[in-house]
Amino acid sequence: MESVTLNVNGKDCPVQVEKNWTLLYVLREVLDLTGTKCGCSTNDCGACRVLVDGEAKNSCCLLARNLQGCRIVTIEGIARGGELHPIQKAFIEAGAVQCGFCTPGMIISTKGLLDQNPDPTEEEIRKALEHNLCRCTGYVKIVEAVQLAAKRLREE
Ligand code: FES
Ligand code: FES
Repeated sequence: MESVTLNVNGKDCPVQVEKNWTLLYVLREVLDLTGTKCGCSTNDCGACRVLVDGEAKNSCCLLARNLQGCRIVTIEGIARGGELHPIQKAFIEAGAVQCGFCTPGMIISTKGLLDQNPDPTEEEIRKALEHNLCRCTGYVKIVEAVQLAAKRLREE
């Protein structure tokens, strides 16, 4: 085991990890942050996405021991003081959540996009979500949710 301190949702979390433990495994099984989902474990679905230093990445393919000092944000860190984030509200309002399994990853990718680009085109939105698979919605409502979230955030 190795000691590593992960900064997760603004809090330093010292953990003991095996060499081959992924960030996804540590989040779910060690830190009990089960909002981040495992859809494939093979870097294909985006259900496990988290922000690492502001960039959306698949946590199933990152080794926890390499993330000392990185700022990690999971879906649990998105809400604002007990209230849903405007992105989360927009997903609900636009009907972009069905089974919900892909939703945490979608919201993380959206947050990563809108933090960098507050007024993205539809093409830029689709590009930012290209690593997130959804088997329920057909993506139209998800794109509409991101557009709605972007509008709301610009108006704040
Ligand atoms: S669980 Fe990581 S990409 Fe599917
Ligand atoms: S809402 Fe079911 S997989 Fe996306």
